[in-house]
This record gives sequence, C-alpha cells and structure tokens, in this order.
Amino acid sequence: MNSCISAIQHLRPLRGGAQSHLLRATDGNWYVTKFQNNPQHIRVLANEMLATKVGLALGLPMPHVAVIEVSDWLIEHTAELGIQLGGPTIPCRSGKQFGSHCVGPPDRTLDYMPSESLGGIRNVADFAGVLVLDKWTCNADGRQAVFWHRTPRSRRYDATFTDQGYCFNAGEWTFPDYALRGVFANNCVYEGVTGWDAFEPALTGAEEMDSDAIWGAQPTFRKSGTKEIETDCTGWWTNSTVADASFGGSSVCFVNRRGTRFQIGAIRGRGLLREWRTQAFFMSGKPHLQA
Ligand SMILES: Nc1ncnc2c1ncn2[C@@H]1O[C@H](COP(=O)(O)OP(=O)(O)OP(=O)(O)O)[C@@H](O)[C@H]1O
Ligand SMILES: [Mg+2]
Repeated sequence: MNSCISAIQHLRPLRGGAQSHLLRATDGNWYVTKFQNNPQHIRVLANEMLATKVGLALGLPMPHVAVIEVSDWLIEHTAELGIQLGGPTIPCRSGKQFGSHCVGPPDRTLDYMPSESLGGIRNVADFAGVLVLDKWTCNADGRQAVFWHRTPRSRRYDATFTDQGYCFNAGEWTFPDYALRGVFANNCVYEGVTGWDAFEPALTGAEEMDSDAIWGAQPTFRKSGTKEIETDCTGWWTNSTVADASFGGSSVCFVNRRGTRFQIGAIRGRGLLREWRTQAFFMSGKPHLQA
C-alpha cells in the first residue's frame, strides 16, 4: 500500500516531452515528477507506475516510484511550475502526480554515454533484461537509462532504467508489434547476448509472474478515516480519458508460459512477449529483431 507523499519544493523543470519537474517531497527525497496535464498523455503516469513496478518485481534496476501530491499552493507560488503547449505556459495540474525517485543526488546523472564507455558499465547485462520488459509491455519509445556512480569512489558507471511512460504504446494502450521499439539506441550494450540465457532471470520472471504481483503494481491507498482500500484514487486509470471508448474493444493482458491470461485493471488484451520469443533471432551473437 502506498502512503501519499506531498511536494514541498520545486528545483527546476527537466528536459523531455512530458515536461517533468524536479520536486522535493515530504519524505526528504527528490522526485522527477510527471503531471496529469503533461503534453504527452495522462496515461503516461499510469504506464510509468505500472511498468516500473513490474520492472522492479523482475529485479531490474529502476527507480522507486511514488504518487506525489502537489498542492494548489505550491503551483500558485512557483511561477516555473508550468507546462508549455505551444502557446502560453499553463500551470501544472494539482493533485496526484507520478514521481520517479531521483537517482543519486540531483544533477549527478548522465543521460548519454559514448560507445567506448557503454561496455564498461557495471551492470551492462541488465540491458538484455530490460528488453524483456520493453517487449512485454510494448514500449513505443527507445530504452532510456541514466548513468551514475553508485558511490563517490566507484570508477564504473551503473545504469538505472528510467522513462517507462511509453510502455503499453504510450496513450494508446494497444500492442502493435514494431520490432525495434524498446531497444536501446546503441547496440553495443547487447554484445553479451548470445542466447536466451542472456535474458534471464527477467524472461522467466515475466513469463511466470502471477496476477497478484501485477495487480499489486497499481497504487492503492487506504481511504482516509476508513479501512477501505482504494485501488485507483489517482484518477490516472479511471479518469474519463481512460474510461472512454478510446480503447474500445482492444484489450491488454499478459500471457504467461502456461497460457494464463492476466488482465490489468481495466486494460485487457494480448501480450507480445511470447510472439517476441518466436520472432527474435540471434545473428553473430547479437540479437537481431525481425522487422
Ligand atoms: N529517476 C530519475 N532520476 C534521475 N533523473 C531522471 C529520473 N527520471 C528521469 N530523469 C531525467 O529526467 C529527464 C526527463 O525524464 P524522462 O525521459 O522520463 O521524461 P520524458 O519527458 O518522457 O522525456 P522524453 O519524452 O524526451 O524521453 C531525463 O532526461 C533524465 O535525465
Ligand atoms: Mg524520456
């Protein structure tokens, strides 16, 4: 169950299509915060929450994620807390937003590493593991990571996987099969991939993950003053944009090795993981995904 944290301080806006902001919360931590009225889609928040929690359950290095309450007061008193939609800047929406716990101290991570350095990343093998999640959830974006030194003395960089906003095909919640989506921009991180073993333990973990673990990835809160548990008090799932017919008959679900279908919240459908297994080929020791 989540306990709700609140934003108390704004540091700065961040780069990127969702126009996130770096906020400090009541737990003392910094969060990269995506707002409900971000220019991409409100579903990006649900995607981030669900796919990151599933990724963490698979043992992948991802940031802790949280629902972060942003007050009207903070927005009214922080001129920079806005979103630009082509015309004038509009204020960020107050209420429950998505927070990705800042990896390391703010401004100490790198978004980009040159090819020569990528092979030297301590956990480079995790790029194969996260490809399982990205194929499974149909990440429509390239795989993104931040690179950082786990301790001030470490010489090697660690990769932590961020930005799961375009999993489930972003705002669409469909599963088109585009072979190269979800792949990291530089293939050299897959150099150690010479067979299916390279995707373990994430691959077996995904195929065998039971529905409780997936359901558990949704934020749940205790309704204030009651013992009742609310599964969606964020509005990201049952908000009218989500409940609308826009996702009509199409549905999303995960299929495990035993053929069990898992439905996630209101989303139902067909997963791609199994098809991906049959479509991925290995050529010259490197993964080659059929177009
Ligand atoms: N948990 C995190 N810790 C540290 N930095 C982060 C974290 N999450 C995101 N960032 C940083 O914030 C920036 C924006 O994040 P993110 O990529 O999730 O947003 P986005 O708007 O979806 O970007 P884009 O659409 O351009 O990919 C990233 O470039 C990354 O450097
Ligand atoms: Mg991004």
